[in-house]
Amino acid sequence: MRTLVTGGTGYIGSHTAVRLIETGHDITIVDNLDNSSPVVLDRIETITGVRPDFVQADLRDAEAMERLFAETGFDNVIHFAGLKAVGESVERPLDYYDNNIHGTVTLLRAMERHGVRTLVFSSSATVYGESDRLPVPETAPTGGVTNPYGRTKHAIEEILMDVQRSDPRWNIVILRYFNPVGAHESGLIGEDPEGLPNNLMPYIAQVAVGRRERLTIHGDDYDTPDGTGVRDYIHVVDLAEGHLAALDHVADAPGLRIYNLGTGHGTSVKELVAAFERATGQPVPHVVGPRRPGDIAAVWCDPALAEAELGWKAERGIDAMCIDTWRWQEGNPLGYER
Ligand code: NAD
Ligand code: UFG
Repeated sequence: MRTLVTGGTGYIGSHTAVRLIETGHDITIVDNLDNSSPVVLDRIETITGVRPDFVQADLRDAEAMERLFAETGFDNVIHFAGLKAVGESVERPLDYYDNNIHGTVTLLRAMERHGVRTLVFSSSATVYGESDRLPVPETAPTGGVTNPYGRTKHAIEEILMDVQRSDPRWNIVILRYFNPVGAHESGLIGEDPEGLPNNLMPYIAQVAVGRRERLTIHGDDYDTPDGTGVRDYIHVVDLAEGHLAALDHVADAPGLRIYNLGTGHGTSVKELVAAFERATGQPVPHVVGPRRPGDIAAVWCDPALAEAELGWKAERGIDAMCIDTWRWQEGNPLGYER
């Protein structure tokens, strides 16, 4: 079995690549290195003893995709590659539509031409927008998205549904991630945002390691128990396991399935800061600022479907998420130094 991992040098892709190799899959990574470092390949090799095949290419490059599929017989594809910064997508919407949608369509065309019809796609809780049902089930309405990044995820979900309807031999799994955090327990791979982190956990980690002076909590006047935003944080290694479960359990059954990947538990900003300080012993100076535009108060998922159908369940708790983040950050204060 050979799996093509698009975006495999990125944060979630690299953790999934490690678990794929460790469970005996042959993999090829394709990435344009737009938001990742080639050092990740060395780190994957150190962890697993295997250097993954790597092709540096952009998914929108149709000739490169054609060559890739012509040269290697893939059995399936896990598709992580994409741009993911919400704020940036508001400033540069066309880059997001082009990269994420055009990139996915070019990939799907190459797959179709070469008869590779099994795909696992990285979607996001963002497709639910502000849900009035908590925990959010997969059947909750989607599409009430407020930013171009989220709209690309929703559009790609719709494209995948159309493709599967047009040819029922396609076997597609859409995974809607909640809030991925943490790092591999070796501390060798982790999240390495370029510039100022947008997301909470990398911001906390950079404050703890001294790269930033303090965290600003974006609002403490939400309708939540302590007034700060509540999210469903999931350890990135649990998320990686979710991709393996998706590949294993759906291989022989064409169709399109959608699963939430989260823990089913909500944690507030203040709770996460306190947990990080307790679990790592590192102080995280913080102040409360205004709300961040576009943020929702609270969201966490109902992960029951993934457990029932994929036999997958998140195993790692908030303490492990904090300790593993810190091991990565402390060992790599400047990330991969790309
Ligand atoms: P990441 O930026 O670390 O990884 C994405 C990788 O894709 C990068 O290595 C980048 O260089 C590559 N890439 C981007 N566009 C490409 C293109 N056109 N051709 C080739 N390579 C390209 O992001 P991540 O956090 O690992 O996210 C992986 C996927 O999961 C993304 O699709 C993202 O939207 C989705 N997702 C992430 C989160 C999150 O909070 N991290 C939440 C929900 C969904
Ligand atoms: N937060 C702060 N200070 C910060 C950063 C974040 O207080 O410096 C708060 C936010 O206001 C929010 C919580 O921490 O209450 C989590 O914020 P993140 O940015 O880490 O995560 P979001 O849930 O806002 O966004 C994430 C991804 C998006 C994705 C969305 C839904 O970054 O790409 O989940 O899946 F669209």
